[in-house]
Amino acid sequence: MKTIYIDIQNASSLFKEEEYIKMKIEAQAALKKLEDKTGKGNDFLGWLDLPYSDEYKIIESSISDLRAKVDTIVVVGIGGSYLGARAVLFALNNQFQNPNVEIIYAGNNLDERYHSELFKYIKSKNFGIVVISKSGTTTEPAIAFRLLKNQIEKKYGVLEARKRIIAITDKKKGALKLLADKEGYQTFIIADNIGGRFSVLSPVGLVPIALAGYNIEQLILGAKEMDEMTQSYNSFDDNIVLKYAVIRNLLYNNNKKIELLTTYSPKLFYVVEWWKQLYGESEGKNGKGIFPAGVTNTTDLHSLGQYIQEGERNLFETVLSILSPGSIIEIPKVDDDLDNLNYLVGKSLDFVNQKAKEGTLFAHIEGGVPNLEISMNSLDEFNLGALLYFFEKACAVSGYILGVNPFDQPGVEAYKKKMFELLEKP
Ligand code: PA5
Repeated sequence: MKTIYIDIQNASSLFKEEEYIKMKIEAQAALKKLEDKTGKGNDFLGWLDLPYSDEYKIIESSISDLRAKVDTIVVVGIGGSYLGARAVLFALNNQFQNPNVEIIYAGNNLDERYHSELFKYIKSKNFGIVVISKSGTTTEPAIAFRLLKNQIEKKYGVLEARKRIIAITDKKKGALKLLADKEGYQTFIIADNIGGRFSVLSPVGLVPIALAGYNIEQLILGAKEMDEMTQSYNSFDDNIVLKYAVIRNLLYNNNKKIELLTTYSPKLFYVVEWWKQLYGESEGKNGKGIFPAGVTNTTDLHSLGQYIQEGERNLFETVLSILSPGSIIEIPKVDDDLDNLNYLVGKSLDFVNQKAKEGTLFAHIEGGVPNLEISMNSLDEFNLGALLYFFEKACAVSGYILGVNPFDQPGVEAYKKKMFELLEKP
């Protein structure tokens, strides 16, 4: 069963045949390099094997006590250490109903107002903490965890607090590892060969998602199916990883320097945020890389729509769609028709949204913004697992085509260095 589809709309017609053929060959070579583990950053390819790991079984069974005990979990982490879980949970959660275990987030910024509101909120909650940091030394989550540890110990006492904290970190090094060992927290390991932004299918993503009550086995199975569908032995036309990597690199070489990942479902907002980190941190180096930006429509058609239609022509757009509507809301008949909407009677809200998407797509193509479309069958764990793994694999292939190491992020140290100087860190 196919879960994810790609439609390259008119984009392939924008390039010369020989340009397209050359890029296809480069992409196939890049995918082979990824599979053979012979490319740049090949010591960071542990994520490739996550669909074949059964660690999800251990996670399921070992978090059940904490899940049964709490109504709220604070996930402490930043960047790749929280965005994957947030993407999946935001997509699956009912936006207007608290799940049995509510997941909230700390340590992904340094804002005092945000954190003081969060600390006040959890006072009346029956809460636990999942602290996630591969390095174990990242300032934002470390500060948030110090404050939360204080709060949880005050509320439940040191011994009970220890049973309510899970640490996810490196197997040997870092301050968080030391602290977790000293306090005896339940700990999951982030393997050395998995970078933060590729870690959603490791305990980094799976533990919070399982604590919220979702089926992490389905997430893994979706990723496994995607891996099988996108091996290098599949023909180019059947391989969506190759297609996506080829088209975006051809567009980049033809002066389309910004990719908008556009969704018509706000439930995918954090999938877009996760994708922005994945592609931005993987490709933006050596003075190169497509700038990844996010758009949520139809909301942003009323804010960014003007720019996309008529601003600088350095954009292309990848529309991320969900094929099944979820539930059906039909537009009812009103006798006086004062709002002039009777022409839509009997049509669903999703139908109108689809037409908005199709109309926008035509308008943007006419306006000089090439469009691709990536569609998933439905919004569930299986499809999300497939989608996230698809984006990871395509990102690696795309980074190799671009000629960068997609798995390092030397540039993120620069702000830390300046900040530590100002903070007078010893
Ligand atoms: O993808 C990455 O490597 C980064 O975004 C990290 O995940 C982020 O900086 C957090 O790092 P750590 O998990 O070491 O606290």
